[in-house]
Amino acid sequence: MAEQEQEVRTRVREAYMHAGLYGYAIGEFALIKVFDAIPEKGDITISEVALKVGGEQEILDRFVFQLTMAEVLTSPAPGRVAHTHKSLKYKSDTLEAGLICHVFNMLFRPLAELPSFFKKHGLASPKDSKITPFGQAFNHPEWDVYRILDSEPALHNQFNQVLKGLGTMYSLKGVYDFSWMEPQLIGSRAALVDIGGSSGLAIKDTLANNSFIAPEKCALYDLPMVVESTKNTCDDSLKDIQFVGGSIFDPIPDHLKGACVYQMRRILNDFTDEDVLKALKTVRAAAAPDSRILVIEEMLSPDRNILNAGMDVFLMLVGGKKRNSAMFSDLAVRAGLRLNGEYKQTSAEFDDFSVLEFVVV
Ligand SMILES: C[S@@+](CC[C@H](N)C(=O)[O-])C[C@H]1O[C@@H](n2cnc3c(N)ncnc32)[C@H](O)[C@@H]1O
Repeated sequence: MAEQEQEVRTRVREAYMHAGLYGYAIGEFALIKVFDAIPEKGDITISEVALKVGGEQEILDRFVFQLTMAEVLTSPAPGRVAHTHKSLKYKSDTLEAGLICHVFNMLFRPLAELPSFFKKHGLASPKDSKITPFGQAFNHPEWDVYRILDSEPALHNQFNQVLKGLGTMYSLKGVYDFSWMEPQLIGSRAALVDIGGSSGLAIKDTLANNSFIAPEKCALYDLPMVVESTKNTCDDSLKDIQFVGGSIFDPIPDHLKGACVYQMRRILNDFTDEDVLKALKTVRAAAAPDSRILVIEEMLSPDRNILNAGMDVFLMLVGGKKRNSAMFSDLAVRAGLRLNGEYKQTSAEFDDFSVLEFVVV
């Protein structure tokens, strides 16, 4: 596994662990930018920090005390605070700050709603992506997570930034071989349609490692607001790809029909079985007889660690879940697809993944 990929994975794992232990304190401080108010070198009085962030010293004292005990911050003298190597990671714009704010917004708020959600809907996983603890926490008890994000631009932007930071962990280099498609790339046929492609990192990775694929033959297909944002901010290697706004629950536009590959990387686990079936049927309807459909996700497996297991519960908050290849395969069969192979990337201790390749029946 590439060194950079491993480094990001380790940082993400550590940030998630911190989130579990004292995440609310780090999360609150990251959100109100307390870590930015402390100088990188030397120390500062807590009263000065309070002035900078616009709050009372008394409340900061309480959080600082906890984070000092947790050795996230340090207090060189009474009433003073300084960074440690841990807290420096939570200054704005770092992967860790984004991740902890993400955990704070996306997980803690809906987790707090669980008792009342279960009381209302019964002790069961959400059956409908529109009726979830997440929706209840954000006062939209009948909207799915992506509609809610669409209505909250700041939250959505933060969510997409985090995804961008995590995206490098899922390179297909050495995991899945696209060379089979080279002779099939005839005429105007699309090579790769990345459904839920977000900031285009998966396409970028595929283009970088498969020089026979022309950028204009790749399409990033995601919700309109996401596509618009990626189009305006992506790097030069993606300038020539197609940016197509739409939903996996609507028919795929005609010019993207019959593509060599339809890819769904880390999108299906956000949805209920019923919605995954709908999505797979949409892709099946667009596919040519020789198209291949790639589902890229971390697989549910009995020998995973506690962090991976926790992710399954977190996905439940938005109506999703982790699945193994048999669970995906069952749904795919109902959509007219067949599992053709599983390509595993298992060298990582955290958040490894498989590429499930499906073909049309
Ligand atoms: C967890 S992110 C994964 C992003 C990217 N594939 C990756 O691996 O980094 C899920 C993506 O699915 C997109 N998405 C959500 N609902 C969608 C829908 N109905 N149709 C198409 N894309 C959707 C989101 O906007 C988001 O970009």
